[in-house]
Amino acid sequence: MSANPSARPPIAAAPLAGQEPVQNPALDWPVLQRLVRQRRSIRRYTDQPIDRGLLEELLDAATWAPSAHNRQPWRFCVVTGAAAKAQLSAAMGARWRADLSADGADPAEIERRVAVSHARITGAAALVIAGVSLEGMDSYPDAARNQAEWTMAVQSVALACQNLLLAAHAAGLGACWMCAPLFVPELVQTVLALPPTWQPQALITLGYPAETKTKERAPLSSRVIWR
Ligand SMILES: Cc1cc2nc3c(=O)[nH]c(=O)nc-3n(C[C@H](O)[C@H](O)[C@H](O)COP(=O)(O)O)c2cc1C
Repeated sequence: MSANPSARPPIAAAPLAGQEPVQNPALDWPVLQRLVRQRRSIRRYTDQPIDRGLLEELLDAATWAPSAHNRQPWRFCVVTGAAAKAQLSAAMGARWRADLSADGADPAEIERRVAVSHARITGAAALVIAGVSLEGMDSYPDAARNQAEWTMAVQSVALACQNLLLAAHAAGLGACWMCAPLFVPELVQTVLALPPTWQPQALITLGYPAETKTKERAPLSSRVIWR
């Protein structure tokens, strides 16, 4: 299925019936533990394209995330064409350059940061723009509950993205969440001709890894309290 015979096989060799009860989830725990601990944000990729079937498997994994009321408010736009990637990156880069200039940042540093971002985006085999849509969500007469509903929708999208990141790692791909679309949602909507109800939340770069990374985590005791 993969374009490269030496690449790892797709995640699901056989179609999975989503409704199958798990017989013994504990058997899968060491595998899951490795998966969640070993996934890293990978920002440099080889030139190898990603098979469309594999991309579809990753997106399928994304959609098995939990979501508020099971309304599945995630929306995904997959960008694999070089011209589209370059156009999106250039448009976002121009806006970022303007914002950083207005902040008074050093011009050389601005160019360096924009160039790094451009290389990352155009160097990825595929981009997944994750958006949120409120179409299926509840609406209320008051702002507080609408805000909660919006937050639930955004949280649901983030969970889908985490599924996608883990699935990418399991498939031998590197991936990185980029927050840039959050700062220029209308621009992303326009460049990619997204439906107006899709509100861009994140850009996930994907590709076969050309780097390895390590990261640490703060001790549990610094983030957890027990009562
Ligand atoms: C909401 C969110 C926004 C992020 N935005 C960016 C980004 O714009 N650029 C980037 O290089 N990494 C971004 N990251 C990746 C984080 O830098 C990365 O997850 C963090 O440093 C921990 O590293 P790890 O993913 O390898 O564990 C983002 C991650 C999250 C969850």
